[in-house]
Amino acid sequence: MNSTIGTDILMAIRFLEQGKLVAIPTETVYGLAANGLRNDAVLAIYEAKNRPQFNPLILHFANPGQLAKFGLQLPEQAAALASKFSPGALTYVIPASDAIPDLVTAGTGAVAVRFPAHPVTQALLRQLDFPLAAPSANPSGYVSPTTSQHVAEQLGDKVAYILEGGASEIGLESTIVSFLEDQPRLLRHGGISLEEIEGVVGKLGLPQKGYVDNPVAPGMLARHYATKHPIQIGDLQQLTAAALTSFRPTDLVVIGFNEAVDSIPATHQFILSPTGNLREAAQRLFAALRLADAMDVQLILAANFPEQGLGRAINDRLQRAATPQKIDTSN
Ligand code: TXA
Ligand code: MG
Repeated sequence: MNSTIGTDILMAIRFLEQGKLVAIPTETVYGLAANGLRNDAVLAIYEAKNRPQFNPLILHFANPGQLAKFGLQLPEQAAALASKFSPGALTYVIPASDAIPDLVTAGTGAVAVRFPAHPVTQALLRQLDFPLAAPSANPSGYVSPTTSQHVAEQLGDKVAYILEGGASEIGLESTIVSFLEDQPRLLRHGGISLEEIEGVVGKLGLPQKGYVDNPVAPGMLARHYATKHPIQIGDLQQLTAAALTSFRPTDLVVIGFNEAVDSIPATHQFILSPTGNLREAAQRLFAALRLADAMDVQLILAANFPEQGLGRAINDRLQRAATPQKIDTSN
C-alpha cells in the first residue's frame, strides 16, 4: 500500500504514456486504467487484478467524437442513447476495429466503450491521444471500489498512481448494452436504469443467462462482487429471525434499505437510505459491503431492494455476491 494518491493529472498522464497503471475516479466506480492500445499495458491490468484474460475490458474515451479516429462508430440506436446519457454511466458494446487489441476485446470482435462523466477523468481523457482500458479497480471477483482508499487498500502496491476524485457519485458500475444485434440487448444493470434506456430505444433484449460477466464462457463468472462472509438476501425480519436460531445478534451484520431490524445492534446495521432513496442506497452499497465484510461476524443479511430503477442493479450485485461459487475461476 505504498502508492501515491493525489490530484496531479499531469503526473497521471506521464505514467499512462509510459504504459503504467493509474487508478482513475469515475462517477460509477474507480477504474484501473492503462493505455488501451498497448498490449503490455493492458496485460498489466489483467495481472494486477488477477483477472482471467477471457473477460474483456471497457475502453474509455472523453466523448463519442473520439471514436472515429480509432475506426469505431456508434450504431444509430447507441448514438441516440449517447446524446442523452453520455458522458455518463452507460457502456456500449459495438463492433471492434483493427486498432483495438485482442486483449481488450478478449477476441470477441466486439468492444465495450464508455464516456465517463467525472470531471477529473474527463480532463485526463481529453489530454490523451489514446483511450483508457479500465476495469473496476478491485481484485477480480471482489466488490468494486468507490473511493481512492478502497483502491489503495487492495491494489495500492500495483499501481503507479491513484488519481483522487472523491467518493463515486453513483456507486454502481455502468449499465452495459450490446448493439451487435438489431435489438439492443442489456448485458448488465447499472447506473442508468432500464426504464431510462427503454424510454429512448424501446424494449431491450434481456441478458443471455450467464452472459454478463463473461461473454466467452457463459456462467463461469456468476459469482462476482464476492465478500468473504456469506450473504443471505431476502425479507430482513424473516432472515434475522431464522439466523438468530443459530447465531448471536453480534454474529450478524445487516445491509438494509430504509428500515433497521429490531433484534440486531445498531452498530451491526447499515441502513443505506433511511429516506428510501435508491440513488443514495446505490451510492453507499459497496462501501457498506466492504465494511460489513471487515467485521468479525459470521453472516451478512441483505434486504431485497425494490425491483425498479437502480434497485435492479443493487439486487443484481447482492445476488452475485451471494451466489455460491460453482466453478473456480481463480478470482
Ligand atoms: O462503471 C464501469 O463500467 C466501470 C468503470 C471503471 O468504467 N468499469 C467496469 O469494468 O465495471 P469491469 O471490467 O469491472 O466490468 C466490465 C464488464 C465485464 O463484465 C465484461 O465482461 C464486460 O463489461 N465487457 C467488456 N467488454 C465486453 C465485450 N466486448 N462484450 C461483452 N461484454 C464486455
Ligand atoms: Mg468489475
